[in-house]
Amino acid sequence: MALLRIQSDWYIYFWLLYCKIYSAIIWLFGNHCRGTDKARAVITSGIGGQSLGSLHRVRTRRKKTQQYHRTKHVVALARRPSYKRIVMAPGSSTAHAMMEDKEKLLAPATIRSRRISQFAPLLIALVGLPARGKSQLAHRLARHLNWNGESTKVFDCSEYRRRHMALYGSHDIFRADNQQGSAIRRQSAHEAVQDAVIWLKDGNSVAIFDGTNITREQRRELSDYCLSDMGFRILFIECVCEDQELLERNIIEILHYSADYKDMSEEEAVDDLRKKLEHYMRQYEPIDAGLESIGFVRVENMGETVTAHKVAGQKESGILGYLSGMRGLPQTIYFTRHGESEYNVLGRIGGDAALSARGQLYARALADYFNAMATIDPVSVWTSELRRTKQTAADIHAVKRPVRALNELDAGICEGLTYEEMQERFPQEFAWRDQDKLRYRYPWGESYIDIMTRLRPVLSALEDEHNVVVVGHQAVLRCMLGYFLDAKLDELPYMNVPLHTIVKLTSYGYKYKVEMIKLPVECVDTYRQQPKVRAEQNCSINRSTAEALTTVPSHYDTLPSNLWQSPTEAQL
Ligand code: F6P
Repeated sequence: MALLRIQSDWYIYFWLLYCKIYSAIIWLFGNHCRGTDKARAVITSGIGGQSLGSLHRVRTRRKKTQQYHRTKHVVALARRPSYKRIVMAPGSSTAHAMMEDKEKLLAPATIRSRRISQFAPLLIALVGLPARGKSQLAHRLARHLNWNGESTKVFDCSEYRRRHMALYGSHDIFRADNQQGSAIRRQSAHEAVQDAVIWLKDGNSVAIFDGTNITREQRRELSDYCLSDMGFRILFIECVCEDQELLERNIIEILHYSADYKDMSEEEAVDDLRKKLEHYMRQYEPIDAGLESIGFVRVENMGETVTAHKVAGQKESGILGYLSGMRGLPQTIYFTRHGESEYNVLGRIGGDAALSARGQLYARALADYFNAMATIDPVSVWTSELRRTKQTAADIHAVKRPVRALNELDAGICEGLTYEEMQERFPQEFAWRDQDKLRYRYPWGESYIDIMTRLRPVLSALEDEHNVVVVGHQAVLRCMLGYFLDAKLDELPYMNVPLHTIVKLTSYGYKYKVEMIKLPVECVDTYRQQPKVRAEQNCSINRSTAEALTTVPSHYDTLPSNLWQSPTEAQL
């Protein structure tokens, strides 16, 4: 039966056998091919003497296939932002948006700027027509950055131009078709940039190139040079001024203070400046984000409107913040120390003493001074939170604002001592302070650098105020005046700011004119110079007491020395 069954199903068994043989042939053939490929790979690597490199070559080929998939993935991710574009610009085709995104991704400038470190030096290049406030902005920004620890210098292109000409001739050198003039201007710009580069290569952090940079070509060249050749960061700041009143004021300042016009009559100077502006206007190509691949900030009407494009980096963001709060209005600021205090009379430092009798007289005289001008030019008053400044300002008819950041230097463990007592109790501290007064920090107290830091917001605010009277203290006012007058930092702690004197600062351009108005009220002198013995400074910790006290000003120390520590006891 079984045999019969096999016989009847023979064709099925035959079919199965056929399939088996066929798959065996296919398997054998397949194996043969794989074997040859493997052999070929080994042979390829063998040709290279079986070096690691050649083996690596084989491996990397395989990796490339994987990478291809990964790249595809990355491209797909990078393309995602194009959705944003589609949303933002309805109607634009997806393919077009994707192409644009890819172009942006591959644009050399983007790749280059991304590679430059946040900590690389920064070149700031100004852009704009004359009289748009570029120099004022450059110097204010430099002052601000220096104060914030970024060593900054302005490289003024017109100063370099003047070095090439014994005398300024006329507007003619600014004509586009004046070849000699153009060559001089190009050369001057080149020299200014070279000096800026040297400054940055010397380890400083910011250089401001104060030129006009009015053509696209100039900006592209500068940007390429800075990014590709130097590896610096670059930021363009374009100054635009549509406000006629502001423009006129800028023009008047140029006529008064520019070295170009010092030997010309007023009419000649006005005519010359007008023609110079016309030459520049013909050549000016305002920055166009669609045509130029640069990061820039546009400042309109000295800070009225500030716009930014492709601005990245810590320093640049800080600069953008500063420019946003800036106003270029002319200003007068008054500074005065409080009237003579009871501590000043005793030669004691710090504390919260009241005014002496002469200090009260000064407060009266000060009020008379400002109240007399109140009808024409009213002032507002900023004091510290300490009694002596509030009492000094008390009779001035004005709004008064106590500001904690204006409080006097905190002398820590030396609060309330005289300089003589400091030498007696802490001779080492006293000597260390003389060695580096700017950086010396009193134990549990402050240094001048600390005051500079806490004053930052006050100074930024004050830069945009007019007719403010700051009633402060010796160390704090040294820092504030040092800021406005661009004093060298190491000189700050030795600036002489006497009692009973108004210091009036009036802005002109980016500078300030100083007037010292001494009111006729007697007072002690609290100014102590750095001690010098036979032209040599003696600030060593081994110096004698006499050497340490050689420059201490005289005072009337007739009360017990522990008055500040236990006033009740002292009263007894
Ligand atoms: O002497 C008056 C005073 O305002 C002190 O309160 C303060 O410690 C001192 O001046 C600061 O001046 P200097 O840094 O020269 O000691």
